[in-house]
Amino acid sequence: MYTELLDKKAKLDINAKRINLLKQRIDSNKEICAEEFDNKEIFFTEDSASLSAANFFIIAVPTEVDKHNVPDLRPLINASKTVAKVLKKGDYVVYESTTYPGCTEEDCLPVLEKFSGLIAGKDFKIGYSPERINPGDKKNTLRSVIKVVSGNDDESLEEIAKIYELVVDAGVHRAPSIKVAEASKIVENTQRDLNIALMNELSLIFDRMGINTYDVIEAAGTKWNFLKFHPGLVGGHCIGVDPYYLTHKAAALGYESKVISSSRYINDDMAKYVARKIITHVLRISNEPKVLVKGVTFKENVSDIRNSKIVDTVKELLTFNIKVDVEDPYAAEDEVFEEYGLHLTKQVADDYDAIIITVPHAPYLLLTDENFASITKKDALIADLKGVFKNKIINRKYWSL
Ligand SMILES: NC(=O)c1ccc[n+]([C@@H]2O[C@H](COP(=O)([O-])OP(=O)(O)OC[C@H]3O[C@@H](n4cnc5c(N)ncnc54)[C@H](O)[C@@H]3O)[C@@H](O)[C@H]2O)c1
Repeated sequence: MYTELLDKKAKLDINAKRINLLKQRIDSNKEICAEEFDNKEIFFTEDSASLSAANFFIIAVPTEVDKHNVPDLRPLINASKTVAKVLKKGDYVVYESTTYPGCTEEDCLPVLEKFSGLIAGKDFKIGYSPERINPGDKKNTLRSVIKVVSGNDDESLEEIAKIYELVVDAGVHRAPSIKVAEASKIVENTQRDLNIALMNELSLIFDRMGINTYDVIEAAGTKWNFLKFHPGLVGGHCIGVDPYYLTHKAAALGYESKVISSSRYINDDMAKYVARKIITHVLRISNEPKVLVKGVTFKENVSDIRNSKIVDTVKELLTFNIKVDVEDPYAAEDEVFEEYGLHLTKQVADDYDAIIITVPHAPYLLLTDENFASITKKDALIADLKGVFKNKIINRKYWSL
């Protein structure tokens, strides 16, 4: 949660560990390097009372789903209470968390009013401006990508736009309402989810036909209007989560989503499909199968392990008593253990029956056919989910989505 203190900025977080690291110029997400903290007037705090001098609040807390894929609004509600307690007349509150249309005004605004005793629109203003950060991406940043902004009236829209224009070089897009801004963000990720689901379904079909999906995409991609999406595991805290917010709200309004829900089902099932492929192969060639998983983060070149779908694959392999080693050059060992109960392997073996390359981390791209051959048995399978070693694996069996 960020606040603007006129010329000063503060970040409040209930995670003491994170605040302590930030004070030492360490970003646990590895997105910001130590030098980038230099000459920045920002103070990090866990103490919400210290925000009382602020007059512009930005709330960017997690919006996750529970085990039944139902939106968990508790962080948003709690953060709203925290802000409400220090809210004054004339203040602004802008939400950045991804959520369904209506959430800011129907779920958060009443909390702000109740715990501040103030009236929205009259005493304070609210707005919504979705985050568009793409982890690991140094090109499409907060500064370089147009930011959608919205407010609860014309005046707040203009004030909020002006604040963001101070930091976003690409400029802002003024959405006509808070709901439109909320919908715009959820649609960005839902569209990606749907397109990936189509590629995943094609992969299930083409596998039965003995066709490599990446070959198909390469060929079809020569047409000007073909959209080059790829199959893969859809993990992380955005694409695999946000569509559930939309389908939840749609259901509350009496509409059961078909297309979006089907895409979620297909994408969520891919981890088990990968497991079935591996299990079928390794049980055929070994009595005591051993598998190496390369990559546990949800995408390449990031340390974020939230909602890692390869963990579902690992769990499935373990139920068949298959020994699984997991390694990742980016993931933090303690976080992987804390979140999933898995120990990261420090020393890889030389007799694997299969290797799963989950994500194309930069160091993996330097590996060769010989490297894979040197740590696997003769009949081993190299399962390259993102197709980066297509046509490069000669000495072992090769499979990609
Ligand atoms: N990071 C991204 O790449 C990205 C991109 C687009 C959208 N988003 C959206 O932005 C939101 C935040 O995501 P994130 O990745 O920055 O999450 P994050 O988990 O990295 O950070 C959120 C922080 O909020 C803190 N927090 C939780 N409840 C709090 C409270 N009541 N008061 C103060 N702090 C609290 C947590 O301790 C955590 O450190 C989510 O809705 C997400 O979907 C994130």
